[in-house]
Amino acid sequence: MRSWALRYLRCPRCSDRLELHAIDERDRETISGLLVCADGCRTWYPIADGVPRMLHGALRSVAVAHATDAHRRVLADLGLEVRWEREPDRLESVKRSTMASFGFEWTEFRGFGWDDPIFDLAYEEGVFLRKSLLNPPDLDGQLVLDAGCGNGRYSYWAARHGQWVFGVDLGDAVDAAARNTAEFQNIQIVQGDIFGLPFAPSTFDIVFSIGVLMHTGDARTAFESLVPLVALGGSLSIHVYGKGNPLYETVDRSLRARTTKLAIPTMERFTERAYRLRRLADRVGMARALNRFVRLDSHPVGFHSRREFVLRTRQHLKVLLPHDLVGRELQDLLADPLH
Ligand SMILES: C[S@@+](CC[C@H](N)C(=O)[O-])C[C@H]1O[C@@H](n2cnc3c(N)ncnc32)[C@H](O)[C@@H]1O
Ligand SMILES: [Zn+2]
Repeated sequence: MRSWALRYLRCPRCSDRLELHAIDERDRETISGLLVCADGCRTWYPIADGVPRMLHGALRSVAVAHATDAHRRVLADLGLEVRWEREPDRLESVKRSTMASFGFEWTEFRGFGWDDPIFDLAYEEGVFLRKSLLNPPDLDGQLVLDAGCGNGRYSYWAARHGQWVFGVDLGDAVDAAARNTAEFQNIQIVQGDIFGLPFAPSTFDIVFSIGVLMHTGDARTAFESLVPLVALGGSLSIHVYGKGNPLYETVDRSLRARTTKLAIPTMERFTERAYRLRRLADRVGMARALNRFVRLDSHPVGFHSRREFVLRTRQHLKVLLPHDLVGRELQDLLADPLH
């Protein structure tokens, strides 16, 4: 964990400040250690491979699994219990399957967006700016949150233009992100849950979330969890997949009814075939047309895909603070994206 990150992190259970107990430190970085909510609820969070593991509630077991014997010795010295009480979470099964599937995806395709022969880095920068609705000067000198960072490809672009960047994700994606961004000292990757992030209200100048909220199981509540983290005058940008046309949606629903139940190796074979079909369609100049009816690309594409650009929330945030008002206004916007 980078030394600058500590001042921004809070206990995700009670929002209190955290105390750092380093176990392994290298070049002013904590590779292994503990973050302890010393004055508040006394919950502890392991730091493993430089990543603070800030999951709590029903997912606490995932964070605790990173604790080694060295962590346990420090816990014993501090008189802290290793055991914890299970807290229920209505979204637990969605979150666990998200961790498994995206954990696999971002580990297997860790280089996607970094070393991809088709989508090279320069192309990715354009995609980041378009999806985040940000311009490089917006990011200059700012503290930024990338909510649902995947393999860290957009944390990287935010950090190229911004001052400090936190990239947060649920599952093993964080290990891919931490490796991809290891040399960029102004990026801190954190394992955390959008529904209970380890930051105080009004922390960030810029919060963006690209291609994430519709995967959370409750996009509205996830969105509402991000709103208070934005500081006065800051900005929040949300990119969600657009809905396609009715025919596309029907084909997609029936495909997903099957593909979401496939084991990962079978799914990989299926995807490879779809990709070959896509390449063939590309060669005969049919890919764009075909994409309107069937998912041959990584993102849904339909007649109405430009709707995804309508939620220009940041302009609204700039004029509508305080937060509770913004929360309600943005809820209305979300309910009526063409507003
Ligand atoms: C489609 S990926 C997008 C990743 C990245 N923003 C990008 O565009 O490359 C969606 C990501 O959202 C993360 N995610 C889903 N639910 C989450 C939650 N409750 N908290 C944090 N991350 C979550 C997933 O783990 C996954 O890595
Ligand atoms: Zn606490």
